Amino acid sequence: MNMPDASEGRRPSEGVPEVLVILSSTRESRFGPTVADWVMSRAAERTDMHARLADLRDFEMPYYNLDVNGPRVEPEMEPREWAKTVRSADAFVIVTPEYNYGYPAVLKSALDALYRPWNRKPVAFVSYGGWSGGTRAVQQLRQVVVELQMAPIRSSVVFQFARRLFDEEGHLREPEMFDTAVEAMFDDLVWWANALRDARPRT
Ligand SMILES: Cc1cc2nc3c(=O)[nH]c(=O)nc-3n(C[C@H](O)[C@H](O)[C@H](O)COP(=O)(O)O)c2cc1C
Repeated sequence: MNMPDASEGRRPSEGVPEVLVILSSTRESRFGPTVADWVMSRAAERTDMHARLADLRDFEMPYYNLDVNGPRVEPEMEPREWAKTVRSADAFVIVTPEYNYGYPAVLKSALDALYRPWNRKPVAFVSYGGWSGGTRAVQQLRQVVVELQMAPIRSSVVFQFARRLFDEEGHLREPEMFDTAVEAMFDDLVWWANALRDARPRT
């Protein structure tokens, strides 16, 4: 998958926070791109942030294999492209499915591979799945990201039985409720992104 840029066709506003939308499902017949594309389309409507998509398929992401004894990864050990991508972001939206009550293993590897590039940055969640809509995966993620010194924000978007909610073109059949939810999520995320971006240099 390419890495579309939500600002394509318009000038990115100077100074607005950079939001990295992480697509964390990598399997062959995945539904994830439909959800991530919708997130990117909503992000493109906003002038107070600038979004970029990171598809974990596009990064070399082996199972976590760093030879360190603790969560603090030294910069020279970080996977270079992934570290560069995460470091350049002020905030994150993790788009995650739910597999057996949890989130994808590749996403855990992507989180564990870095430490400082995640620190003191907000993260929001868009989840999808069957009956639970990925909410249990997100509950687990909230615990994990705190150890990476990230700030998980309250507002999120949940797609229960996601495949039924989108049509063949990838458009939501009934967008109103989800549009409201994603706007609230972006509002929160941008607030935290600006607050923490101002505060980070002081630490
Ligand atoms: C191995 C596996 C386990 C799953 N477990 C759950 C689950 O615990 N809860 C849920 O709501 N959906 C579950 N599902 C449904 C997936 O969330 C759904 O198929 C989703 O589209 C997967 O995302 P993907 O297609 O982008 O990989 C599971 C699917 C798979 C393949």
